[in-house]
Amino acid sequence: MNNFEFKNPTKIIFGKDTIAKLENEIPQDAKVLLLYGGGSIKKNGIYEQVKSAIKNLKVVEFGGIPANPEYAVLMDALKIIKDEEITYLLAVGGGSVIDGTKILSAAALFEGDIPWDILSKGIKTEKGMPFGTVLTLPATGSEMNSGAVITRAETKEKRTMGGPGLFPEFSILDPQVISSIPQRQLANGLTDAFTHVLEQYMTYPNGALLQDRFAESVLQTIIEVAPKVLKDPTDYKAAADFMWSCTMALNGLLQKGVPTDWAVHAMGHELTALFGIDHARTLAVIAPSHYKYNFEAKKEKLAQYGERVWNITEGSTDDKAYAAIERTVAFFHELGIDTKLSDYTKDYEGTAETISKRFTERGWLGLGEHQTLSPDKVEKIVKMAY
Ligand code: NZQ
Ligand code: ZN
Repeated sequence: MNNFEFKNPTKIIFGKDTIAKLENEIPQDAKVLLLYGGGSIKKNGIYEQVKSAIKNLKVVEFGGIPANPEYAVLMDALKIIKDEEITYLLAVGGGSVIDGTKILSAAALFEGDIPWDILSKGIKTEKGMPFGTVLTLPATGSEMNSGAVITRAETKEKRTMGGPGLFPEFSILDPQVISSIPQRQLANGLTDAFTHVLEQYMTYPNGALLQDRFAESVLQTIIEVAPKVLKDPTDYKAAADFMWSCTMALNGLLQKGVPTDWAVHAMGHELTALFGIDHARTLAVIAPSHYKYNFEAKKEKLAQYGERVWNITEGSTDDKAYAAIERTVAFFHELGIDTKLSDYTKDYEGTAETISKRFTERGWLGLGEHQTLSPDKVEKIVKMAY
């Protein structure tokens, strides 16, 4: 196991009817900006629950943060923060609203002129405006981590940011919110969380036995609850395990003491930026090609995953590793997720070259657990995913 430091300051309030607890978590003298997305919270009753819980606070609202949170929209919210002298942010939504809130938290205290620099120059946020979240869609883990992904339509970019100042102070996780989530977003959430675990696991064995078992347990739980959640989103037991698995998949614990990859996300984000494909679906497009292309480097872990998670016990290490990739593709298909770029767009020619060029320009010359995945290799992997 590698050396590590681990600190996660986010308070999790988990369970049925917990949204009412909001009133105890925000300082009484705060001036709050309540942030939400395209309006789902107004149809499913979450908005009323939130408003009732914070009725004694001073609250300004900002709705309309789109999926793949858009920089230009968020800059309108930043103006409100400054004009209204907001002191506390409350995100009510999925990863997009929470990530949008994180850039606002960072930008509100940022000393530079152009908040986009935080993303383009990779400026880490050591201190942000305090914020909390009410999670409405399990998927990204953003409710308990300090990262965010922001889109800029103007330049067709999707960039990441983060820093120790961007953990939510608290996150409320009431699994009942799952009952109103459409099938497409449920499948996205399951796929995103599953791939988050793979990114922190599918590297090479380094003797971190407990870390491996943590990762495998999250994968097994997602596989077990997926059909139940899709069949009946009001199944509270399944919803609870789904929600907690998504949080655990990316709250920082799994990556401690082990090598991590994250190249699938780096490539996937470009597919969302270029084509608007849902984040989770881009991962299902890239992951199989990535694992096939890097088969030699990853086959020990692929075989371990095949054996322990999918019960693939026949054949050599190579056989098991290959079968594990095929089983993963089948799992995505069972969730209703297509795994080829051509399933999403007819306009895919040239994509691999574009992505490889972007990575070269950004100086991303060696991704992955060995920092050896160069732009020419990225080009080959994306082509394999057509
Ligand atoms: O906008 P509204 O009307 O609220 O509708 C949303 C949205 O259309 C809807 N929805 C959310 N909760 C619902 C609901 N509909 C009915 N009932 C509910 N309870 O679902 C749609 C998708 O929401 P979104 O927040 O975009 O989904 P998700 O949570 O999957 O977030 C995706 C974003 O997170 C980023 C992705 O790149 C993408 O931009 N990621 C963030 C990460 C992080 N911060 O750690 C890591 C991830 O790898 C990911 O990159
Ligand atoms: Zn993701």
